Amino acid sequence: MLTSAAERKAETGYRIAPECPGAIASFQLPATLGFGLVTAPVMYSCEYDGRHWGSRQLLEYGPLQIYPGARALQYAELVFEGMKAYRVGHEQPNLFRAHDHWQRLANSSARLSIPVLPEDLFLEGVEAMVRACAPFIPRISGRSLYLRPFVYGTEPGYMIRNSTTLRFIVIANPVEPYASGAMSVAIERKDSRAGLGGTGTAKTGGNYAASLRATSAAGTRGHHVVLWLDAPEHRYIQELSGMNLFAVIDGELHTPALDGTILPGITRDSLIAIARRDGLKLHERRMEIDELIGQIGSGRCTELFACGTAAIVAPIRQLVDADGSAHAPKLLDVLAARLRESLLSIQERRAPDSFGWVREIRIG
Ligand code: COI
Repeated sequence: MLTSAAERKAETGYRIAPECPGAIASFQLPATLGFGLVTAPVMYSCEYDGRHWGSRQLLEYGPLQIYPGARALQYAELVFEGMKAYRVGHEQPNLFRAHDHWQRLANSSARLSIPVLPEDLFLEGVEAMVRACAPFIPRISGRSLYLRPFVYGTEPGYMIRNSTTLRFIVIANPVEPYASGAMSVAIERKDSRAGLGGTGTAKTGGNYAASLRATSAAGTRGHHVVLWLDAPEHRYIQELSGMNLFAVIDGELHTPALDGTILPGITRDSLIAIARRDGLKLHERRMEIDELIGQIGSGRCTELFACGTAAIVAPIRQLVDADGSAHAPKLLDVLAARLRESLLSIQERRAPDSFGWVREIRIG
């Protein structure tokens, strides 16, 4: 039993604020979680002073102090990740593809010219949260602890340049999947999420800001998400703000190739690896929206689904165009269900992990 803050720091390498144990002990996991509605009562924090990363600590969850002129608020100098820890059927929790999430954060940082957070600090932050939150990592299949690590510029100022100071935070949420039920997807023919040379491949707040107007309009028409098309022509499929798209055409899997505008989804990459392992024919290619609509109409495209860390594998019921025409493939959640189960069985350690994606975090 750790008695003092100094002893706790000596054991973990980071300071654990004295409020944390009480906050964790009094936290109750509700029966219904939703996605992002329930927040863990602690957070990890580490600061960059322009030369060194330091001041590593686990704090009680709460509002951040930030200068109103901070670059993160004024110029969206922010990169983030979304990753999950699982504790289904095993005492010890596990992370999924933690190194790949760090690598993507590093790539996002490079795109915004933000100094890269060292991998050991990234892992310290997420593992600190997994250990602290272990009592309320859901034990039910499909549920998990969603971890949201992010780095943002804290220095105030209006000059358009990088902040010299940064803060790295990890917050966490016990979650159910992001999308519940089959999705209705609105094809966006006017707004654009990302263009070549832009920030579409980076996980940065600005991409999500760009998606808000169309997403809000689609929501008022009863759709769940927006399908983005390429910026100059609105002809080629990109992605669905927080998910990547797959289509089953003539019994084979098709997904848009990573063309420099699409976020390289780690779930997308995992499904591709699983499909190849299972001998499914898979095509990463330029996909035209009007061609796909034609293939749904002719019955060649039998199924659509989306995937992402938050969404896992989510079936799509229909694509709806700007003129209101709906295009519904005849199958729902057939291959998607199979791939979801293959992925979850690795993430939840019900099946062997021949890819080396899963890492156990020992909590005792
Ligand atoms: C994720 O899947 O981790 C995302 O960031 C998507 C977001 C819509 C929750």
